[in-house]
Amino acid sequence: MFIHPQQTSFIDFVSTMVLSKTSSESDVSVHSTFASRYVRTSLPRFKMPEESIPKEAAYQIINDELMLDGNPRLNLASFVTTWMEPECDKLIMASVNKNYVDMDEYPVTTELQNRCVNMIAHLFNAPLEETEAAVGVGTVGSSEAIMLAGLAFKRKWQNKRKQQGKPYDNPNIVTGANVQVCWEKFARYFEVELKEVKLCEGYYVMDPEKAVELVDENTICVAAILGSTLNGEFEDVKRLNDLLVEKNRETGWDTPIHVDAASGGFIAPFIYPELEWDFRLPLVKSINVSGHKYGLVYAGIGWAIWRSKEDLPDELIFHINYLGADQPTFTLNFSKGSSQVIAQYYQLIRLGYEGYKNVMENCRDNMLVLKEGLEKTGRFDIVSKDNGVPLVAFTLKDHTHFDEFQISDLLRRFGWIVPAYTMPPDAQHVTVLRVVIREDFSRTLAERLVVDVEKVLHELDSLPSRMINRSSSTSVAVNEIVVKNDTDQLVAAKKSALETQREITAVWKKFVLERKKLNDKMNGVC
Ligand SMILES: Cc1ncc(COP(=O)(O)O)c(C=O)c1O
Repeated sequence: MFIHPQQTSFIDFVSTMVLSKTSSESDVSVHSTFASRYVRTSLPRFKMPEESIPKEAAYQIINDELMLDGNPRLNLASFVTTWMEPECDKLIMASVNKNYVDMDEYPVTTELQNRCVNMIAHLFNAPLEETEAAVGVGTVGSSEAIMLAGLAFKRKWQNKRKQQGKPYDNPNIVTGANVQVCWEKFARYFEVELKEVKLCEGYYVMDPEKAVELVDENTICVAAILGSTLNGEFEDVKRLNDLLVEKNRETGWDTPIHVDAASGGFIAPFIYPELEWDFRLPLVKSINVSGHKYGLVYAGIGWAIWRSKEDLPDELIFHINYLGADQPTFTLNFSKGSSQVIAQYYQLIRLGYEGYKNVMENCRDNMLVLKEGLEKTGRFDIVSKDNGVPLVAFTLKDHTHFDEFQISDLLRRFGWIVPAYTMPPDAQHVTVLRVVIREDFSRTLAERLVVDVEKVLHELDSLPSRMINRSSSTSVAVNEIVVKNDTDQLVAAKKSALETQREITAVWKKFVLERKKLNDKMNGVC
């Protein structure tokens, strides 16, 4: 996207869109394109219009504006599902008017959620008797699931400390510095100290040894990630469990583990069934997974699963009866749509174990195609692992002339959204590009992306050799640049239109990149 100087307010607007603010004084109207067949006046952008407009016009105006959004299928930044089968789309539309919380009105939807909870709990090897119901809840995503699981740990720890007559006002949680921002939110919103294990260059996940060293009597749990957001790597939950069992034995504590399996929870059971990361490990008391990532459902569904009833303090469950029968609820929000729960159930029965395995294997194969293609350029180091979330995280070998942010920026011209971001402390000097391979990212797209990356590299390579050598004494006019002639002497040459355009673009790119770097944690990596 080329950004005109007068559009800085637009950049402000985009970068603060969570808490949106009206920063533009000049452009306060939404102008219609084809909607001018129905309406002749423009709509105020930030104030509700006084008068109604025809439904066709409203549709057309919004549809026209949304055309400027990126193409979700080419959004390689996100783990979140962007394609489902038309049959499931139909079910989603048919249930879009059902409020999930009206469980008495919609008992079948509630039943479908319970089936999902049980299927996922079995997938995670919860120690359930044949007829025993699993303990878990559908949420809006992993973030909500993590808030709930974290609250359960905090409350359990507090109850125990109270019983022991010990202080219970200083809880902490141990994680790697690579945790997703939702853990920082949990810590801040629910007043739990976040003790992060620092990373180092070449090791981008939580080191179990260091994590266990940070554990003390105030630790409510250690959170391990099955599929780090930054490079897809699975943390070693088994090793963590073994070390913690040992520490608990020595100290008399009973510090538990939560596994943030936002991405890996729907990958590991299918393609790494031998890997022990779940309820097979005795200290793992709860697990979250995003249904909308590799659970293969559109955005808006996650799951929190507990090992047993004892791991979810009863006092966190509210019982309401004003919608009909007694209903237990343990969620942060109240009303929400039913469609995503129904869609999750559709995927679980439609694909079954076999179908999920096929999808995950396919993603892994396409990841390997992309990884090998990028390696072949000879320009990148790969920082993701083959056995993890199917993604390729890579970093430039040589940063002399350009960096990963510039590659990310130029790839947008081809429609690709490939984020570049810096690693957390103490590896923040490392910048990576990350391509997430979802079900809809085909082998053809992987090959195409490699070709486009090569084009971008070629373009960036061609810039420095023709750009000004700042230490040179050769004097040049504004519309000139310094180039080497055939005998390697520096001489002034006229800029071409393309070079002038590139220079303007470079200024704006620099501006946008500075902002991106400032917004480190808000980098669209989700
Ligand atoms: C490891 C991890 N945990 C939690 C989250 C938050 O998940 P959600 O978007 O489902 O709230 C993410 C999102 O990418 C993640 O990668």
